[in-house]
Amino acid sequence: MSEINKMKDYAHKNNVPIMQDEGIKFLCDLVKTRNCRSILECGTAIGFSSICMAKINPEIKIDTCEINVGLIEIARKNIQEENCENQIEVHHCDAAIFQTTKKYDLIFVDAAKAQYKKYMDHFMENLSETGVFVFDNLNFHGLVDNPEMTKSRNTKALVRKIKNFRDLILEDKNLNTCFYPNIGDGIAVVEVKKVL
Ligand SMILES: C[S@@+](CC[C@H](N)C(=O)[O-])C[C@H]1O[C@@H](n2cnc3c(N)ncnc32)[C@H](O)[C@@H]1O
Repeated sequence: MSEINKMKDYAHKNNVPIMQDEGIKFLCDLVKTRNCRSILECGTAIGFSSICMAKINPEIKIDTCEINVGLIEIARKNIQEENCENQIEVHHCDAAIFQTTKKYDLIFVDAAKAQYKKYMDHFMENLSETGVFVFDNLNFHGLVDNPEMTKSRNTKALVRKIKNFRDLILEDKNLNTCFYPNIGDGIAVVEVKKVL
């Protein structure tokens, strides 16, 4: 079994949510076509998406934030086994307070779904001239469009927040947003319009 398949298998068996096949393909294609070299990821989990992106080109550098210390250990081990330790730096922190002056070609947001607006505001200044945000899980397993499918009040509240965020990025006149509802769990690519 390839290392990538081993990671997928581990995630599946241990209920660690990682990007779905279609979603990771979309993300890697975007990294290739936009020639991204500097990437910030919010939500490392076991390092799966970071490793997939790093493997595209040895010049790619990734900062990735993860709050769960147990997952960080696994991610660092996977990153080492894949010889990506010179490309990927795992930061143990809440992504919402990660501070850096670096500029990124891609800011991939895949951490706490209720905090997407907070992450976008927090990292706005860290986008490079041609940089984009990518947000995953904007359908939240179909619940955003069908909230009646859950009875849980907490899930309903989360789904409402994701819906509000999705509407906001689609309606904000300062943003160019492409929403791909049928890719993975619903992915958006968001560019900030340049002020002329
Ligand atoms: C969907 S998983 C990330 C999957 C990963 N991007 C991949 O596809 O391989 C989301 C991760 O975000 C982490 N997380 C949740 N809240 C966070 C926060 N505030 N800051 C950083 N990481 C957070 C979770 O512990 C979880 O590992």
